[in-house]
Amino acid sequence: MAVAKMKFAIDDGSTNVKISWIEGGQMRSIISPNSFRKDWKSAALLSDKKVYNYQVGTTKYTFDATSDKALATTHVAYQYDDLNLLSVHHALLQTGVTPCPVSIMVTLPITEYYNADDCQKNEVNIARKRANLMREISLNKGELFEIVDVEVLPESLPAVLTTLMDSGVNEYTKSLVIDCGGTTLDMGVIVGEFEDVSAVYGNAEIGVSMVTDAARKALAAADSDASYLVANELIKRRHDREFVEQVINDLTKVDWVLSRIDDKIAELGAAVAHEAKIFARNPNRIYLVGGGAHLVAPAIESAYPSLGEKITVVPEPQSALAREICCYHAADQAQAS
Ligand SMILES: Nc1ncnc2c1ncn2[C@@H]1O[C@H](COP(=O)(O)OP(=O)(O)OP(=O)(O)O)[C@@H](O)[C@H]1O
Ligand SMILES: [Mg+2]
Repeated sequence: MAVAKMKFAIDDGSTNVKISWIEGGQMRSIISPNSFRKDWKSAALLSDKKVYNYQVGTTKYTFDATSDKALATTHVAYQYDDLNLLSVHHALLQTGVTPCPVSIMVTLPITEYYNADDCQKNEVNIARKRANLMREISLNKGELFEIVDVEVLPESLPAVLTTLMDSGVNEYTKSLVIDCGGTTLDMGVIVGEFEDVSAVYGNAEIGVSMVTDAARKALAAADSDASYLVANELIKRRHDREFVEQVINDLTKVDWVLSRIDDKIAELGAAVAHEAKIFARNPNRIYLVGGGAHLVAPAIESAYPSLGEKITVVPEPQSALAREICCYHAADQAQAS
């Protein structure tokens, strides 16, 4: 087997794969959305765009950012199936690095990584995920990275590693980490600087896609059918009036569409705050990560009024986990050499 030439930290979420790596002494990061459908795309139709036609076993897949037939990646089985293998390889190709043998660090949702009853590692799930990512896959008319080693880490919690170390917590401090992703809400309580993980929680019903779905419906009602990607962009740039008016065809419905989005954001925030309160009534600190962190922050602030400034949205929350895993690993390497 080949020897790995590079190491990548990969947070392979259900809607977006986030990758960080060190190149020329600098950390680089990318975000690659998951949107694959069955069968191959015809290359002839698209001369300016690169076509990514993959094959896993006997099944053919293609990357298709705007397809309505995009296969769902938003279920737990995704962690161990063809689509996960595809999305990791596809994301690696988006780094611009020339394909070579690589060693990767990937993530599993905390409730898959730890047993819910005793917070011990679930070695069966970890082995399953590793084995899945070492499987054969091919890219038509192209070269793929060779994955020679896979390390599995829990989602969410490592995103706050350096933040916690720099924040002067004592060994009794309980930090609640809330990860609001595309389709799931994950939470964990860390004791001290990482002495212990005292509880984990996962809910596959609560995520930013609640807002995305509402935005798409509202857009359709305003004569502006849109893909997930466009709807997500509208949510992010809802305060940018010029952009909003480019996306919404029926200008008389602009304010109505925006109010539908705001209502759903409030609903998402309320749902997250409700679950958080049940899961951890009185943490000492709260860290918000994941793509939905900014959307739910106001609701968390009002649910925990006494925490004030001890509630933190981690910088660039969507890619924080991949960056932290990368940083942490780079520190390891520096110590070893
Ligand atoms: N600044 C932002 N404002 C609003 N939404 C955002 C922002 N940044 C990212 N998002 C949304 O967050 C979602 C993705 O978040 P993230 O990448 O954390 O999810 P994921 O890890 O793929 O999902 P999961 O953790 O549920 O498996 C997308 O719907 C994206 O549009
Ligand atoms: Mg995630």
